[in-house]
Amino acid sequence: MRIEEKEALLKKFAGESEEGKQAEATSENAATAANAENPGESEGNSFDEVVEHHFIDTHGHFDDPSFDEDRDELLEAMHDFGVLNIVNCATDVKSCKSTLKLMKRYPWLYGAMGIHPHEVKGIDEDAISAVYTFAEENERVCAIGEIGLDYHYDFSPRDEQQDWFIEQIELAKELELPIIVHSREAAKDTMDIIRDYEAERVGGVIHAYSGDLEMAEEYVRMGFYLGIGGMVTFPKVKKLIRVVEGIPLEHLLLETDSPYMTPVPNRGKRNDSRQIVHVAAKIAEIKGISVQKVYEVTTQNAKRLFGIK
Ligand code: NI
Repeated sequence: MRIEEKEALLKKFAGESEEGKQAEATSENAATAANAENPGESEGNSFDEVVEHHFIDTHGHFDDPSFDEDRDELLEAMHDFGVLNIVNCATDVKSCKSTLKLMKRYPWLYGAMGIHPHEVKGIDEDAISAVYTFAEENERVCAIGEIGLDYHYDFSPRDEQQDWFIEQIELAKELELPIIVHSREAAKDTMDIIRDYEAERVGGVIHAYSGDLEMAEEYVRMGFYLGIGGMVTFPKVKKLIRVVEGIPLEHLLLETDSPYMTPVPNRGKRNDSRQIVHVAAKIAEIKGISVQKVYEVTTQNAKRLFGIK
């Protein structure tokens, strides 16, 4: 692809939204101020650097309806922006099926099969058998996820969330697949379940990690990775910055959670895998290393955990 074509695509996918811009005006100002203090910070975000880098987005939801208008156009262009692979995370049985469809169409796209804590309310064993069958029959299913606990929204009763989280950990152990864990305002219960049900036998990633450094170290000791996404670029995330400082790069994964969690400076717009450049630049800045090193090591981490070829 020629450079002018790439620039045109970049503009097109930037998804200019005046509403979003206004809504995020405050955090944009904060980001600009931060850049003024650290003039080197945005180096990793320049267009030229983006195309030279290769990385894996370990957490996306490209079956989300917000991609209905331009999903194929966007996914077909991903390689030109340095995206080697995406792990698309299912959230319910329907989303497992649409993830499998995407995997069929894009041989570089991998899938995680599972039922999200928001969606476990009222499900039965049939949902779990479906997840099992999808995972067993498709080689590029690389994980069981997105599974876990969400006590912030409480869309499903907590006891049901816990039961289905445990059951899906058992499923992952049976299939010998790592788990992709969602945990929001449920740090202690998540850790207890992971420890009590010996999820370290398969390992996995704590997606959008938001706990403290001490707990991060405990997860790392159990062989888990921590997923770092747009949140690390947000203002007032001191605890997360300490985690990124304190945990070796060998235990971190890059992720977007597209279409959610868009990093600064694009908060308020739809997220997609290309936005990882902002996350990688922030990690490099925090750790005082090159962006290239962040890409290299986290790509190896993702390949190792998910068996990506
Ligand atoms: Ni997610």
